[in-house]
Amino acid sequence: MADTTDATAGEALRAAFLEGMSRAAASVSVVTTDGAAGRAGVTVSAMTSISADGAAPTMLTCLNASSSALPLVLENKCFCINVLRTGQTEISDVFSSRLPAPGGDKFNAVAHEVMATGAPRLSDALVSFDCRLISAERIGTHHICIGEVAEVITAHEGEPLLYGLRKYLRPEAH
Ligand SMILES: Cc1cc2nc3c(=O)[nH]c(=O)nc-3n(C[C@H](O)[C@H](O)[C@H](O)COP(=O)(O)O)c2cc1C
Repeated sequence: MADTTDATAGEALRAAFLEGMSRAAASVSVVTTDGAAGRAGVTVSAMTSISADGAAPTMLTCLNASSSALPLVLENKCFCINVLRTGQTEISDVFSSRLPAPGGDKFNAVAHEVMATGAPRLSDALVSFDCRLISAERIGTHHICIGEVAEVITAHEGEPLLYGLRKYLRPEAH
C-alpha cells in the first residue's frame, strides 16, 4: 500500500516538475560532435555557462542517455553548442528527429564546418561554442556533459530562438 502511495506521489511530483519546467523558457541549441566514434547532432534546451574564468571558460549540456549523440560525445570527447536563431525551427525539428533527416543525414539540412576540436559548427548559428569534454556524470536518464571552451564564434546580428510552454515562442514586436 505504501509503495502504491509513494509511486502516485512520485508521478504527481514528476508531472508538476514537467509542468513547471515548461514555464522556464530557454534558448534552443544543436549540440554536435564528430571524431573517431562518428558524427551526430541533437537539439537541446539544457545548456548553460559554468564559469568564464579559470584556465578556459566552461559550460555544460544535459543529454539523454537514449540520444544517439550521447555515446559519440563521450567517445569523441568534444562537442559544439550551436545556439539557433529565430527562423531556424526546421533545423531544431530535424536535429530533434521531429522531422525526417534529408537523405537520412541530419547534417544535409544545414551548412556546417569543422572546428578545432573536430566537432562541426552550424555555419548560420547565432553563436557556436566549440568545447573539449572534460567531465561527464550520469544523473537519472541524462548525462551532464561539461566542456572547456576552445573557441566562440558569434554572428553579428540575429535573435535567439526560444522554447517555452512546449512551443517555439514568437519574439515580441519592438
Ligand atoms: C526544443 C527542444 C529541446 C530539447 N532539449 C533536449 C535536451 O536538453 N536534452 C536532450 O537530451 N534532449 C532534448 N530534446 C530532445 C532531443 O532533441 C531528441 O530526443 C533527440 O534528438 C532524439 O535523439 P535522436 O535524434 O538520436 O533520435 C529537445 C528537443 C526539443 C525539440
